[in-house]
Amino acid sequence: MALIMNNDAPQQCRWHSYSTTAELERAAVQSILYAAQQALSQREAFRIVLAGGTTPRRVYESLREANTNWSAWHIYFGDERCLPPDHAERNSRMAALAWLDHVAIPSVQIHAIPAELGADIAAAKYRQIVSGIEQFDLVLLGLGEDGHTASLFPEHDLGNTTDAPAAIAVHSAPKPPSDRVSLSAFRLSTSRQVMFLVTGQSKRQAVKDWRNGASIPAAAIAPDIGVEIYIEAALMNNLAQ
Ligand code: 6PG
Repeated sequence: MALIMNNDAPQQCRWHSYSTTAELERAAVQSILYAAQQALSQREAFRIVLAGGTTPRRVYESLREANTNWSAWHIYFGDERCLPPDHAERNSRMAALAWLDHVAIPSVQIHAIPAELGADIAAAKYRQIVSGIEQFDLVLLGLGEDGHTASLFPEHDLGNTTDAPAAIAVHSAPKPPSDRVSLSAFRLSTSRQVMFLVTGQSKRQAVKDWRNGASIPAAAIAPDIGVEIYIEAALMNNLAQ
């Protein structure tokens, strides 16, 4: 019988609020590079899972300028939309244009989700790709207006049991496209560190629900060490509204 991962250990959230988006992004870049430095010094490899959507774009652009050993970085994706690889709405394409095409990470170390193959086939393939990784070093995640993260949506399977597959096929997603692939909540929680990046007034209600203890999908990401939430201060104020 699989255990619900966070049935008794509620998600530990550390909220880091910043007065401007630029300050938040600068802090996020510094934290990512610090996590990389730690991983490279201890394990000679840095395995990072990228967030999709638009929030991380400027963080990725800033990483172009980083002074780091790119040859030891291994890139994974928290989720992907079932679109052609070069489609403008692909999370892998956003990351490539903003960052990955501009740095010397070996292409064999950039593991895009082959979502163009369809959700079910791609999920099965990605399960194999991540199966050899005991723990990611860092998982980056965004927050949707409905409280989703990666492609884990309300009223959908979150994969938050200990026997959940690492990658799941998502159909009828409320955020287009309806077919996606997502790492499961359990797999996303198997990381030394998890960082949420939350910006934009449209996230206000989701943040309010989250801080009030609602079981939004983002709350299902519950590594033992807890999660870091990098958030605009304006989203933390007057939550009573
Ligand atoms: C996706 C993302 C998704 C995203 C949130 C926030 O594929 O859509 O993985 O989880 O992180 O929807 O999106 P924005 O950053 O665009 O607000």
